[in-house]
Amino acid sequence: ATDTPAQPLSLGFESIAGSKTDGCVVAQGYTAQVLAPWGTPLNTLANPWQSDGSNSSEDQANSVGMHHDGMHFFPINGSSEDGLLAINFEYIDQSALHPDGPTRDAEGRRPAEEVRKEINAHGAGVIRITKVNGRWQVVDNDPLNRRFTTASLMDLSGPLRGTAHVRTKFSKNGTQTRGTNNNCGNGYTPWGTYLTCEENWPNVFLNTSTPLPEDQRRIGIATSRTSYGWESAAGDSTEVNDEFTRFNLASTAASAEEDYRNEASTYGYIVEINPFDASSRAVKRTALGRFRHEGCWPILPVEGQPVTFYMGDDAQNEYLYKFVSAALWTAADATPSDPLATGAKYMDEGTLYVARFDADGTGRWLPLTVDSSTTDGRTLGSIYGDLATIILNTRGAADALGATPMDRPEWTAVNPLNGDVYLTLTNNSSRTEANAANPRTRNLNGHIIRWHDAEDRVSFTWDIFVFGSDAAADPTTTNFSGLTDLNQFASPDGLSFDSRGILWIETDNGGNAVASATNDQVLAVIPTTLLDASGNQATIRAENQTALRRFFVGPNGCEVTGLAFTPDHKTMFVNIQHPGNWPYSTDATEVTPAGTSVRPRASTVAIQRVDGGDIGVA
Ligand code: FEO
Ligand code: CA
Ligand code: CA
Ligand code: CA
Repeated sequence: ATDTPAQPLSLGFESIAGSKTDGCVVAQGYTAQVLAPWGTPLNTLANPWQSDGSNSSEDQANSVGMHHDGMHFFPINGSSEDGLLAINFEYIDQSALHPDGPTRDAEGRRPAEEVRKEINAHGAGVIRITKVNGRWQVVDNDPLNRRFTTASLMDLSGPLRGTAHVRTKFSKNGTQTRGTNNNCGNGYTPWGTYLTCEENWPNVFLNTSTPLPEDQRRIGIATSRTSYGWESAAGDSTEVNDEFTRFNLASTAASAEEDYRNEASTYGYIVEINPFDASSRAVKRTALGRFRHEGCWPILPVEGQPVTFYMGDDAQNEYLYKFVSAALWTAADATPSDPLATGAKYMDEGTLYVARFDADGTGRWLPLTVDSSTTDGRTLGSIYGDLATIILNTRGAADALGATPMDRPEWTAVNPLNGDVYLTLTNNSSRTEANAANPRTRNLNGHIIRWHDAEDRVSFTWDIFVFGSDAAADPTTTNFSGLTDLNQFASPDGLSFDSRGILWIETDNGGNAVASATNDQVLAVIPTTLLDASGNQATIRAENQTALRRFFVGPNGCEVTGLAFTPDHKTMFVNIQHPGNWPYSTDATEVTPAGTSVRPRASTVAIQRVDGGDIGVA
């Protein structure tokens, strides 16, 4: 299925044992430093982080957000010691955010200041970081530091822009919205912008009306209670323009331009950010579909060819998508004068596809276009009308085309050496019916699938790269990849190649035998060493079992998220999301002493070699 050039690259560290402590563990010869934890001030409007949870919503709007997830390092002038770290802040731990957790008044309403702080802890950020004497630090008050929250003004672009679907009281012409939420995985573009992806945003909108609009039913908008209760918040003297009631999708007025029935239709997108211009607005690129977006990863662009992005929809039995630009790549666009205009060129017009994996090891990309044929002999146009409505109903349109339901598609990654694409399928406890690409029912451990697009861009070949499992499981039913104590893993989630071709895998696991053995972790593998000479169904086999190596283990309670690299390969950044009792100090490996309780702070961790060498290799 693949042709891979011979290459000398090899992993230069020994796999580490599993760990279950309130500290990080990293391979021998490496250091791990806490960088930019939740609450770190980014400018002079923020007070320093307080360990009692007493920082204000205004502090939070000007500080690092909570629950770091996807991220990307943007070098400044090509430097590997000075750059911008763009980071997602996926969600919050209310008990850590507030002094004594979330509160409600006698009528059950959330206080405005608490809700504002929660809104400001979500979203994304751009943070200037520099390496000084070998240690990374945040550049406080750098003019490029900025935050995007669930309240930030953003533009809508692509097919939904200006349509009746997205007109609200706030934007009567349907061209703008406020905020981005539950930003999980990420991407970047070949023209130097950051992509942040809206995943579990349906949980913050409430719609108690019946029946729900079909797109809201299919995406899972909350119908009885929301995770945070923002829509219930009492207004106060600073409330402007329905800043909380917009999360309630009730139709209260005569027209959509006078209420917020359409507010949720402005969420569920890939959002583009220009990290190098702090005055620019984020743009929601609606052409890339509306679902629970996990990540958005580009191919390495080829002159004269379209730009392609791969995207997972992370929920049980949802789908894998790709977007192929209408515009053809020209290398002059790698350094544009107006990056968001270049974004419009490549991301506002093109074709969205959903994947069908066939049992013979081939697959088909099914276009979500008005002319596309459904499995029952209609067209998407006959069901939905126009492209904007198809995109609003992306999941329903993909159902109609006969896409393959997957075991929770999380991140995609593109091998820079050969163009193979990898996808983490994190787990699926509810799968009762196996298919070739998701062959285990009640898949508690997850797997990683890969494919290679054919030149026609609508067909591909695929195989399963590795199956998660505990080491002790039956190799004929579960541990197909022959994992051992030194590389057993489950629930793969974050996934990225570095530019040399090492694949880094992160886990978001719990509640199984692997979780009993180790906290969440980062593993590395060089896939070219794993290819089965016969082609399809190449897995990590017994003779190759040391090829997959455990590099890093996080503290109790966390998942390990986000992967970013400096161009010189001397620093790798990962994120610790929702830790339980960490960090104890700026050394990420220092274990919080027994009997000591710290207010947990999600954080980036900067990993370097003690000898200053290149990460991962000898
Ligand atoms: Fe936010 Fe699918 O993980
Ligand atoms: Ca994830
Ligand atoms: Ca996950
Ligand atoms: Ca998660």
